[in-house]
Amino acid sequence: MSGTNAFRLVPFLLTALLAPVLAASDKADQKFFDSKVAPILTKRCLPCHDTGLDNGGISFRDRSSLLKGGKRGPSIVPGKPEASVMIQALKHEGELQMPPGPALSAKESGVLTEWVRRGAAWGEKLPMRRNGPY
Ligand code: HEC
Repeated sequence: MSGTNAFRLVPFLLTALLAPVLAASDKADQKFFDSKVAPILTKRCLPCHDTGLDNGGISFRDRSSLLKGGKRGPSIVPGKPEASVMIQALKHEGELQMPPGPALSAKESGVLTEWVRRGAAWGEKLPMRRNGPY
């Protein structure tokens, strides 16, 4: 029966081995947000989607508002850029075109698409603030 016992250990071993790898990828995703994503959001989206000025019901200082989205559905679906209203709007092809006026460059919208695909992790460069009276 020693074979069975060894198999029981597999989940524990995997957890022990993968934990540092997963922590490292979290860090990489946060760094990606801070260095590449936050500057674009700050410059091109925050002027209209911020605390107290949440056009369309979303603020780029409140990740939960992006997950919930506005009347068109979730603005971001982590891991699924094609299902995210925000990413569709960047293409400037449909009814909703964001940002209004000139579209983002292909490089910038590529960065935002990659960010959502990787799970839309947050970092430190764009501090979160809750909407509401508190
Ligand atoms: C000049 C102001 C302005 C800027 C800049 C801007 N938005 Fe918007 N955004 C709006 C307004 C106004 C609406 C509501 C439009 C409507 O409902 O027809 C909106 C709506 C949205 C919605 C739809 C919410 C919903 O479900 O109805 C998304 C997603 C969005 N914006 C994403 C972005 C992103 C991403 C950026 C930056 C790349 C951005 N916006 C920049 C003004 C702006």
